[in-house]
Amino acid sequence: MPVPGRTIRPPLEPFKAKVIEAIRVPTAEEREAALQRAGFNLFNLTSDDVFIDLLTDSGTSAMSDRQWAAMMLGDETYAGSRNFAHFESVVQELTGFPYVIPAHQGRAAENLLFTQFARPGTTIPNNMHFDTTRTHVMRNGARAVNLAIPEAYQVDLDFPFKGNMDTGRLSELLRSASAGEVPLVMMTLTNNTGGGQPVSLENLTEVSRICHTAGVPLYLDMCRWAENAYFVRLREPAQQGRSIREIGRAIFDLADGATMSAKKDGLVNIGGFVATRDPALADRMKEELIVFEGFPTYGGLARRDLEAASVGLLEATDLAYLEHRIGQVRFLADQLDAEGVPFLHPPGGHGIYLDVRRFLPHLPVQQLPGQALVVELYREGAVRTVEVGGIMFGDGESPESAPALELVRLAIPRRAYSSAHLEYVAGVVAAVFRRRAAIRGMKMTYEPERLRHFTARFAPLSG
Ligand code: F0G
Repeated sequence: MPVPGRTIRPPLEPFKAKVIEAIRVPTAEEREAALQRAGFNLFNLTSDDVFIDLLTDSGTSAMSDRQWAAMMLGDETYAGSRNFAHFESVVQELTGFPYVIPAHQGRAAENLLFTQFARPGTTIPNNMHFDTTRTHVMRNGARAVNLAIPEAYQVDLDFPFKGNMDTGRLSELLRSASAGEVPLVMMTLTNNTGGGQPVSLENLTEVSRICHTAGVPLYLDMCRWAENAYFVRLREPAQQGRSIREIGRAIFDLADGATMSAKKDGLVNIGGFVATRDPALADRMKEELIVFEGFPTYGGLARRDLEAASVGLLEATDLAYLEHRIGQVRFLADQLDAEGVPFLHPPGGHGIYLDVRRFLPHLPVQQLPGQALVVELYREGAVRTVEVGGIMFGDGESPESAPALELVRLAIPRRAYSSAHLEYVAGVVAAVFRRRAAIRGMKMTYEPERLRHFTARFAPLSG
């Protein structure tokens, strides 16, 4: 809870607007019609239906003038693009990984990595799998295991590094595994599905030691690594004087490679890569890349996209940028706290995660409370959010299948919305919170087999 009488101040923007995009609040009737058309799945809304879009922070950033200028430098060469050479050198400089393979986004990078490692009978641990990561592990026949620390599941607990992996469980898993059963360990920075919570450098050091003692490679999902490094700088006493890039190198030095969706901390609208220290693995992934994404000097991207990412990857390490970025999340958190709205603590790097179980305690998991909340936030003020709970991760039907956390994420795009927008969002959430007792559940009317949250359809429960 904020200190009584303290004013909640917005973070100062270290930038000003040069280009704007008009947005408007659809009327209550328009919102109702849009919900019907969308089958109550907010992934089916069009952008004109939405006022403030907090569905994702992925590919939704505002690019800088320098990135737009870089777009004009795209050589649009199939093979041997100088833009790729620049991109490769930026990733090498930031991470120290020598082999860099571009891909059109994070899940394409995951596809390249997991088709090499995941097999039936293997187990792939993660601190907390993201949905696409888990899907890539499972579609190759492997088992995805989350080894988050127990603190990660205590929504109210103000613990600085809830993204940490339980090193005791990791040691035990590796000790009891047969040779080759765990082909790699992955750490997601920040953890996203657990609230955008960071991993400490101390924890990563221990995870790396355990992996390498067992001869198992450690890969990072580095989508939001700069935000993670910011928290390390802020919360880990030994790291306080260091730059984001120095902390980054300390992190990457512990790993064998990484996948990245540059749509997050690359500050671009499309792009990603997989990087490794293993030349033979890089060659095998490049062969796959050519089949599915394109030649290794563009990887499914226009060369101008690579150039914009080269600039964005470095901009995301700027401390003034990160202070504003994380400051926006905290600004929204402070306002929700003042209204008594329950959300996962502490606020994470890229958004607020409402605690659905306490927001709508009268709705059992079978009545899809997260989806009901997402729908009400849209209905109230055309704010689009996403369920991260039973629909994304459980079978949504039995309490036993319910994931440990039932959340609704308000993901904040980078550099896109103003403080006034965030105050509006806080007002919408507070209004829904005040009328929460009257909110009814939902049912699923169409259920796809994989990644069902994207395309499922829903209907309100009558009664
Ligand atoms: N890993 C993490 C931790 C992610 O958050 C995402 C995407 C991916 C991998 C896949 O990257 O979208 O470029 O293919 N997260 C987005 C989100 C979709 O909304 O959190 P992608």
